Amino acid sequence: MVQNVSVGLLGLGTVGSGVVRMVEGHQEELLHRVGCPVYIKRVLVQNLDKERSCHINPELLTSKADEVVSDPEIDVVIEVIGGIERAREYILQALSNKKHVITANKDLMALHGAELLSAAEENGCDLFYEASVAGGIPIIRTLVDGLASDRITKMMGIVNGTTNYILTKMDKENLTFEEVLKEAQELGYAEADPTSDVEGIDAARKMAILASLGFSMNIHLDDVEVKGISSITSEDLEYARQFGYSMKLIGNAKKDNGKVEVSVEPTLLPDTHPLASVQNEYNAVYIYGEAVGETMLFGPGAGQLPTATSIVSDLVAVVRNMRLGVNGKSVVAPQFDKQLKKDDEIAGKYFYRLHVKDEAGTFSALTSIFANHEVSLEKLLQKPVGDNGVAEVVLVTHTTSKQQNDNIYQQLRDSGVVNQIKSHYRVEGGAQ
Ligand code: NDP
Ligand code: HSE
Repeated sequence: MVQNVSVGLLGLGTVGSGVVRMVEGHQEELLHRVGCPVYIKRVLVQNLDKERSCHINPELLTSKADEVVSDPEIDVVIEVIGGIERAREYILQALSNKKHVITANKDLMALHGAELLSAAEENGCDLFYEASVAGGIPIIRTLVDGLASDRITKMMGIVNGTTNYILTKMDKENLTFEEVLKEAQELGYAEADPTSDVEGIDAARKMAILASLGFSMNIHLDDVEVKGISSITSEDLEYARQFGYSMKLIGNAKKDNGKVEVSVEPTLLPDTHPLASVQNEYNAVYIYGEAVGETMLFGPGAGQLPTATSIVSDLVAVVRNMRLGVNGKSVVAPQFDKQLKKDDEIAGKYFYRLHVKDEAGTFSALTSIFANHEVSLEKLLQKPVGDNGVAEVVLVTHTTSKQQNDNIYQQLRDSGVVNQIKSHYRVEGGAQ
């Protein structure tokens, strides 16, 4: 019988400090839930002298990874150093030393998840990663356990807090992308280098993880179509409002007839959609299962204690497995070979904001481009832009295929009817 469980922590930054605070501060609850004491034995950091945001005995700190991943007394290693290569190396070492591993690292899991999970299985170890997607929201356990009986056909997620905060502020306070980004960086919400957040890469990593689990297929980061939010303007948000939509960076994963599509892109959601009300830095994941219908999880996608909550819940799961002697048995190989939809199998509605010559015949030439591709228009408005002979046309199509829409886009760009395609987004809703 397991008498006590000793944990090695790799990293003591925002998340690592939260893990220490929770493991120390929730001893009674942990003892009750797992039936034995759990304590932190060693902590890897880079800088031994740095001030920490949690109380930690300095004697536990080390700058040598080996003192954590190869310590025979350590049962569980928690990786919260971030980055790819070093984290991968330490996790593989820990697994080969028969230590169970918990990580919050979506960058690593999106790229090397399959390799690490199979290493865990070979070594009879658990590898859990609840905190890697949507911080404090228990989305992975929901997909793996809660909805294990169902067939999931659709997942839509607001899985990046930084971009949701930026879009909310732009919309509510009528500010530009650049203004809000600067403010978010000053407040510490957005990172100094915000590229992976604002260009949708962080969300794409999380959607690759969710799609792999939800659809039981090996979905790689390269399989996710990605477009960020940096070119969204106040005008786009104003028209979205007029048309009854909210603009969100949406991770979209859908399965039809065994084939899947996964994308991250700015999307206009009808104001009535459950995700439209998710504001500021909050995250949410909407799931559609054939039997359960619609469900949605909402909560903090980042932050010290929310993220630590997920990590310590993984720790509880590992220790329960240790006491039952069933570690390493929860990795389930993907049920299906990966089949990605082709562009003519991806359905969507699309928003365009166009600048056209304000002269006779333009409108009919414009609408005939859509008509020639057998795409009808759901919403349409036109207004003059200044007195320079240019009109702004804003429209939303009915449902069409991505292929048809790409053809329309190309023709709009090349036909001479349109001066400039100012913006172009996917729209959620309708028969898709
Ligand atoms: P931080 O930068 O705050 O902390 C990183 C910690 O790891 C620091 O303590 C640092 O040491 C240590 N570290 C980094 N590289 C090394 C190395 N090569 N050797 C030894 N120690 C190292 O990161 P976060 O806590 O914010 O994030 C950690 C992980 O959690 C990342 O994978 C992130 O994506 C993920 N995550 C973070 C969330 C958040 O809200 N912050 C939310 C969800 C996931 P030192 O302190 O000495 O510099
Ligand atoms: N940068 C991420 C976000 C942190 O803004 O959501 C959590 O992964």
